[in-house]
Formats: sequence, structure tokens, C-alpha cells
Amino acid sequence: MIDNKMRNIRVGVVGCGYWGPKLVRNFQSIPGADMYIVADLRQDRLDHIRGLYPGVRTTKDYRELLASPVEAVAVATPVSTHYQMAKEALLHNKHVLVEKPLTRDSREAEELIALAKERGRVLMVGHTFEYNPAVQYLKEYIAKGELGRVYYINCTRVNLGIFQQDINVIWDLAPHDVSILLYILGMKPTQVSARGAAYVQPNIEDVAYVTLYFPTGIMADIRVSWLDPCKIRRITVVGSKKMIVYDDVEPTEKIKIYDKGVDAPPYSDTLEEFRLSYRYGDITTPAISNAEPLELECRHFLECIREGRSPRSDGVVGLNVVKILEGANRSLKNGGLAEELSW
Ligand SMILES: NC(=O)c1ccc[n+]([C@@H]2O[C@H](COP(=O)([O-])OP(=O)(O)OC[C@H]3O[C@@H](n4cnc5c(N)ncnc54)[C@H](O)[C@@H]3O)[C@@H](O)[C@H]2O)c1
Repeated sequence: MIDNKMRNIRVGVVGCGYWGPKLVRNFQSIPGADMYIVADLRQDRLDHIRGLYPGVRTTKDYRELLASPVEAVAVATPVSTHYQMAKEALLHNKHVLVEKPLTRDSREAEELIALAKERGRVLMVGHTFEYNPAVQYLKEYIAKGELGRVYYINCTRVNLGIFQQDINVIWDLAPHDVSILLYILGMKPTQVSARGAAYVQPNIEDVAYVTLYFPTGIMADIRVSWLDPCKIRRITVVGSKKMIVYDDVEPTEKIKIYDKGVDAPPYSDTLEEFRLSYRYGDITTPAISNAEPLELECRHFLECIREGRSPRSDGVVGLNVVKILEGANRSLKNGGLAEELSW
């Protein structure tokens, strides 16, 4: 008898545009995964996959993939199709990994969570950064209290990017930062506000500034743009004891810890006595594993299927991110007024 922990899991990937082939590459190389079939509406994308992996079956009809003997399905189609694809896959009793964001609507996300539970299937969302060793380091560093009290966080995710046609830049890029923030802080915001503008395509915001307000007073700003000359993927966390910068564009030194800060005097009776004291200490660069986050994510998906457990980025985590994105979009249409988030 084959040990359940060792058995091969047949995988199908729907959508093979920019991101899908990266999933195919990983499932093709991970031991214990059998990269079985790929579906895409475009024949040229299927030909591309066949050229790289002649053993992988291809189809233009994703229903053929759902009818095949795959146990797990990864969905990497445009966001507007996620709900339908994931729902049909669950109805065919497949385990499902859906690319971020899980859906465009929280009711749809809730429905998928309920369906996965009813069918006893794994529902996971592709929040790749939750599997990124640098983000893991950030989470542990904050949890250990090394930064002191976290004051505020700034996330910048901009470049001259791919303009999406079915979603604005908040739905496209902010899921990454929102999922990182929820993961590293281990709490959910109470309010969100957003401002943005559509410069290139009518009514599809290509630049946006989103702010999340957390219960402990932490304010987190997210700047996302498809319209910027420089590629920046940076998160700065400022604490009372230290400050930390995570720069994902840096090839090796992704995390830098700054022993910098400013302290107010414990007490002062006069303005002359009130002097802030500045601290300029060392900058340290910890060694971070260079394992590919997407590979870790794909391995985690397979492990959860084998062991029947809930993924780190499960349906509920996906739903939380969708609720925040919905709130941000309500605020965007409402002149940037803060929207309450109810959990
Ligand atoms: N985790 C990450 O870091 C990351 C990065 C990029 C994109 N993504 C996500 O991946 C998903 C896909 O993004 P992309 O940039 O690859 O988009 P894309 O437009 O390049 O590719 C989408 C593909 O889906 C195919 N498709 C559309 N409808 C289909 C259908 N009914 N049946 C079969 N195929 C269909 C299209 O033909 C296309 O080839 C999105 O959800 C996006 O948010 C995630």
C-alpha cells in the first residue's frame, strides 16, 4: 500500500498566461506532484506549455480538465472568473488553489468557503508573500518584540506595470500588501480609506493610496501604481525600538534592520528641558533563505491535501483580504472617507 504522505497528486492548472506557467513549472518539478493537464482558451499558450512539457495534456475547455482524474486544480485566470472556476472545481470534488484575490466579492468568497467545507476539500488562495522567507522573518521579528511597539508601516508596490482590464490597481496589486500586513501583524484593521485616479484607462484606477487603521493605533499605508518609472516593492515597519525595511527588488539583502529611533525625555517641566534624543545605531542584514516562495506555496498546498489540514492562506484569509479590498473600493468612490470594517 502506498503511504498517503508519499502518494502522487494529479494537478490541473487553468489559465496559462503570465502567472499560470510558473505554477506549472513548480508542480512539474515538485516530487509527489503529477502535473497532468493545463487548460487555456488560447491555443498559443497551450502550444507554449506543450513545447516546454510534452507530457502535459492540454485543452481549450476547462470542463475537460474538471472531468479528468486530477485531484487538485490551480486557478490562474483573470480575477472576474475566479469564483465560477473555483466553484465548479469544488463541485467536481477537487481541491482548489485560487490565485489572489480569492474573488471580487465577499459573498462569493463566503460561498466558496462553505462549499469547500461541505465537500471536505482544501480551498487555498495564492497569497504568495505569506510563503516568502523574508515576510516570515518580518513576522517573527515583530512577534519577538525586537522592533518595540509597532508605530506605522509603509508599503510601496509600483512600476510601469501590466494594465489590467477587468480590475483596478487596488484589486490587482494591493492583495499582496494587505495579505502581508494581516499575516505579519496577526490582526485585522478596523477601518480603511483609499484615494486613487484613473489616468490611462477610463474608470479603471491605475494609481491608488490605501490606508488601513489597526486597533492598536498602527497605521499602514499602501501605495500601488501601474504608472511609475521605477519598480519598487518595499515595506518599511517603524517601531519604538528599531525600524526594518524589506525590499523585495534587492537580489540578496532583502531585509535591513536599522537600530535607529527617537525617544522623548521621561518628563520635562520646561520647553528647554524637552529634548528628543536620537539614536543612530548599526544597520544589520540578516541571512534570508532564497527558496522560491511560489514553490513553498505549491508544496504547502499538496501537504494540506495529503494531511487533510487547512492551509496558512485558507479561504477565510482570502475572504478577509477581499473584505478589505471591497472597503477600499467603497472609500475610493466615496471621496476617500474612511470605511468601517466589520468582522
Ligand atoms: N501570486 C502572484 O504573485 C501573482 C502574480 C501575477 C498574477 N497573479 C494572479 O494570477 C491570475 C492570472 O493573472 P495573469 O497575469 O497570469 O493573467 P493573464 O491574462 O496573463 O492570463 C490569464 C489566462 O487565463 C486564460 N483564461 C481566461 N479565461 C479562461 C477560461 N474560461 N478558461 C481557460 N483559460 C482562460 C487566458 O486566456 C489567459 O491566458 C490573476 O488572478 C492574478 O491576480 C498572481
